[in-house]
Amino acid sequence: MIKKITSIDDLSIKEINKIADDAIKFSLNKKKTKKSKVRNIFNLFLEPSTRTTVSFELAAKKIGHNIININFDKSSLSKGETFKDTMATLVSMNPDALIIRDQREFSPRDIYNNHKISVINAGDGKNEHPTQSLLDYAILKKKFGNKKITIGICGDIKHSRVAHSNIKLFTKLNYNIELIAPDYFLDKNNLLKINKNIKYRNSLNNIDNLDVIMMLRIQKERINKNLKSSVASFKNKYCLNMKHLKSKPFLMHPGPVNRNIEISDDVLDSYRRSLILDQVEMGVYTRMACLEFLF
Ligand code: NCD
Repeated sequence: MIKKITSIDDLSIKEINKIADDAIKFSLNKKKTKKSKVRNIFNLFLEPSTRTTVSFELAAKKIGHNIININFDKSSLSKGETFKDTMATLVSMNPDALIIRDQREFSPRDIYNNHKISVINAGDGKNEHPTQSLLDYAILKKKFGNKKITIGICGDIKHSRVAHSNIKLFTKLNYNIELIAPDYFLDKNNLLKINKNIKYRNSLNNIDNLDVIMMLRIQKERINKNLKSSVASFKNKYCLNMKHLKSKPFLMHPGPVNRNIEISDDVLDSYRRSLILDQVEMGVYTRMACLEFLF
C-alpha cells in the first residue's frame, strides 16, 4: 500500500500520536526496530539541508533500509533536465518511497498523485514541513505528556513551512497558540483558515504565560527585496535575549539559527532550558517512526 506524509492534514490524530509515541520509545531505547523487508528509499534534496537529510539517512540505516541520496548538484536537473523528466527517471527505478525537499509548494503531493508512490515531504517551499512538526511534538509530548500547553511561535511565520505545519498540528492538539511577529511576517488571512483562536503579539515582553517559546529562522531566500530592510528592524525588536526568559520557558528552534538575529549568543550558548539539540536528536527517532508508518 502506498502512503504519504506530505502535510499534517494527511495524518489523523491517532497516527500523529502513534508516530510521536514510537519516536519517544526509540529515544528511551524502549522500542526495537521492526524487522521489515529491506526497502529502497530515494532522498531527493533540492534545497540546502543538514539536519533533515542526515536524520532521514540515519533513520533509514538504523532500520536496515537502502537509502540513496540525491541533491540538485548531483542530479541531471543541474544539466537542464526538467523536474518532470527527472521524476519520471527516478520513479522508473521503482523506489519504495521518495523523500523530497523542494522549493515548489505542493510538489510532494503532486508526485504522490501522479506517480502513485509513497512520499514524505521534507519541506516544500513555504508550505509545510510535517516531519519537523512531528519531531517537535514528540519533544513536547515527552516533556509535557498530554497537557494542553501554551506555546509562543516567534519570527518569520509568513515564509516558514515549519510554522505552517506546527500551527496545524498544535491546533489539532488544542494547544494555546500565540504568534509573536511584526505584521510583515504574518499572513493573518491564511492563518485564520487554520485556527480562529490564535492570539497575536507584537513583542517578546511579558511572555511569562508561555510554557514554550519556539523561535524561527528568517527565511532570507523566500523574502522579496522590499522586505530585506525588515531583517534589521526584526533583529532590534525580536532577537531573543535572557531578559525575555525570566519565567524560564522551554526554548525551541528548528535550526539553522541566525545568531544574534533570532537568538542572542548568550541564550544559544548557555540557556539551560533550550531544547534545540534535543530536537535534532529526536529528528532521527521521529523519522524512524515515520518510515515504520510508511511501510
Ligand atoms: C527548517 C526548514 O528547512 O524548513 N530546517 C529544518 O529542516 N530543520 C527551518 C529553516 O530552514 O528555517
